[in-house]
Amino acid sequence: PRVAVVFGGRNSEHAVSLMGAGSVLEAIDRSKYEVVPIGIAQDGRWVLAAGDQRYAIEDGKLPVVDTSGAELALPSGEAALVAYEPGSIPVELGTVDVVFPVMHGPFAEDGTIQGLLEMAGVRYVGSGVLASAVGMDKAYMKAILAAAGLPVGPYVVVRERDWRLDKDRVVKEVEQLGWPVFVKPARAGSSQGISKAHDLASLETAVEFAQAHDPKVLVEAAIVGREIECAVLESLGDEPPAASTPGEVLVEGGQEFFDFEAKYYPDQMSLTVPADIPAETAEELRAMAVRAFEALGCEGLSRVDFFYTPDGRLILNEINTMPGFTSLSVAPQLWAASGLTYAQLVERLIQLALG
Ligand code: DAL
Ligand code: MG
Repeated sequence: PRVAVVFGGRNSEHAVSLMGAGSVLEAIDRSKYEVVPIGIAQDGRWVLAAGDQRYAIEDGKLPVVDTSGAELALPSGEAALVAYEPGSIPVELGTVDVVFPVMHGPFAEDGTIQGLLEMAGVRYVGSGVLASAVGMDKAYMKAILAAAGLPVGPYVVVRERDWRLDKDRVVKEVEQLGWPVFVKPARAGSSQGISKAHDLASLETAVEFAQAHDPKVLVEAAIVGREIECAVLESLGDEPPAASTPGEVLVEGGQEFFDFEAKYYPDQMSLTVPADIPAETAEELRAMAVRAFEALGCEGLSRVDFFYTPDGRLILNEINTMPGFTSLSVAPQLWAASGLTYAQLVERLIQLALG
């Protein structure tokens, strides 16, 4: 089968996607699949990735999709996959059996590329349109998780119009959460646009910082607790989705929270697998992770992030429908510890999509 690995994208997690794609391209079984690497540049252009495409952080520089000398068209067969340049006519990329969108954030993990692929009738790895869209938008995500009876923390949704016209009311609501709070763009990832506000003055700065990513902003009560993550994988047969061994992430770099640098620069975070938590808590957490996966109707792989509070409660922070996917990222590491190597995980996801 022919697999298009699509990466990059028009969003602030562009580089994170490339790091994941580098690992997928290395791990994919070339004796079994014909691989077509397709980059989506930061301006939205789709290009065939050239051999000199960089996939890693080098000398502290984040990788971007290299558009130099790349072609847009593949040898054509029945038209199946088309490329969109914003404001232009789609370009035919030829036939593929499955697309692996190793991408995060808006126009990547939010149901948009999934919708494009549905329209084209092309199979793809991961969640469909609705689960992707809900998973990307923290306001809807929390509403759906709470409706499924899962424990989410207190939060306030700050819409741009309310912030502009009715700030006093918004501030009153936020104050109910207590200080400090985390201020996040509703639709972003990898901690982009997130900051911690300790008082009213820093709230203003934080909301504007988040609004640069998304006019819709979420303010969350800061939860004191250990960060425990669990990956969920759809089963090939009729069995329910499976939860990995949970792991604990620790920030090592002295940052105030698990920010972009902690996530992607070397030696800034550590992952302990299995997490050192009571066995019954681990079981409860794994069951909740599966319920979250099912509440959104996820497919393929997701990573569900929790807080484990000093008084022994679990709070579900979020679900990521296309979690960081380098071979050293948390979800692949959790599966490795649960007996599935990175190459096996990649193969399983492709098989699930082809299913
Ligand atoms: N948004 C990043 C890629 C993650 O959740 O891992
Ligand atoms: Mg996320």
